[in-house]
Amino acid sequence: MPLVGFGLWKVNKDTCAETVFNAIKSGYRLLDGAGDYGNEKQAGEGVKKAIEAGIVKREDLFITSKLWNTFHAKEHVAALARKQLADWGLDYFDLYLVHFPIALKYVDPSHRYPPEWFGDDGKVYLQNTPMIETWQAMEQVVDDGLAKNIGLSNCQGSLILDVFRYARYEPQVLQIEHHPYLTQEPLINLCKTLGIAVTAYSSFGPQSYVELGAHKGAASLLQHNLIAEIAHHKGKSASQILLRWATQRGLAVVPKSNNHKRLLQNLECTDFDLSPEEMKAISALNINLRLNDPADIDSRMAIFA
Ligand SMILES: NC(=O)c1ccc[n+]([C@@H]2O[C@H](COP(=O)([O-])OP(=O)(O)OC[C@H]3O[C@@H](n4cnc5c(N)ncnc54)[C@H](OP(=O)(O)O)[C@@H]3O)[C@@H](O)[C@H]2O)c1
Repeated sequence: MPLVGFGLWKVNKDTCAETVFNAIKSGYRLLDGAGDYGNEKQAGEGVKKAIEAGIVKREDLFITSKLWNTFHAKEHVAALARKQLADWGLDYFDLYLVHFPIALKYVDPSHRYPPEWFGDDGKVYLQNTPMIETWQAMEQVVDDGLAKNIGLSNCQGSLILDVFRYARYEPQVLQIEHHPYLTQEPLINLCKTLGIAVTAYSSFGPQSYVELGAHKGAASLLQHNLIAEIAHHKGKSASQILLRWATQRGLAVVPKSNNHKRLLQNLECTDFDLSPEEMKAISALNINLRLNDPADIDSRMAIFA
């Protein structure tokens, strides 16, 4: 799996195909998508264009997608993976993740897609599907050749250990919120011990949540004095410092940008090293601030409690 990929959450639908094409043309080889992002068809058009232009072959790309919460029952997992592959115009995903360890009531894609968090009446409907059922159906996705690897997202240690008790195919990747305000050392250490690769999301911390009005009043990391000082000293941008801090901790990153210049800048973030002192100083910004917490939607979904 490439160390730096391109994140597709909130990549505008009308420009997504072009943005993905440009990302691939600029050198990105990992695309991090999800049914929930509502732009998989457009992302697939960008991939198709890049392949037709001879820039890459399918096997040069590492394409990730995610199983949404309303499809956790065993009869829905592979069916959704097939629908998502059809949206992308692909035969297989390189990685298919359980997006959240939360099962919600099934919504037929012909009724509403992506279904998001709520029923038609705006309420959250939980469904009693345990993770063992979902994980075994994810393993079937591999057996059916729909995904080469499977993994988890937004899971904590106790659930990961539980999945290891029954897994035929152990989770290959865990994708988690990770930035200097949420450094997650114990979880990262557990993944190292178990041999799970970790992908960081929302590497710029509050930045991604400002447009949603959900940054919880947190000060910008991209404009933080410490990050700005290190960026100035290294001749790099603040975004590059934040991404390098994560990759030097052994994590993969999937920054998102709707802007071509910033997208390019984000990819060029591994040609320098931070000193041990700089790494330590950035990690010391930790305040355990979690920005993406389903408990903020409904307290019955407090998966990080
Ligand atoms: N598994 C999960 O539950 C989950 C949850 C969240 C995210 N993710 C994945 O992780 C990816 C990245 O996370 P994210 O989208 O939350 O946030 P992010 O990549 O940390 O930040 C994106 C924000 O930063 C801005 N930005 C990007 N590059 C910049 C730069 N060089 N300088 C200044 N600002 C910059 C973007 O604005 P512009 O677009 O205007 O540049 C956008 O507002 C997502 O796209 C998605 O693929 C997964």
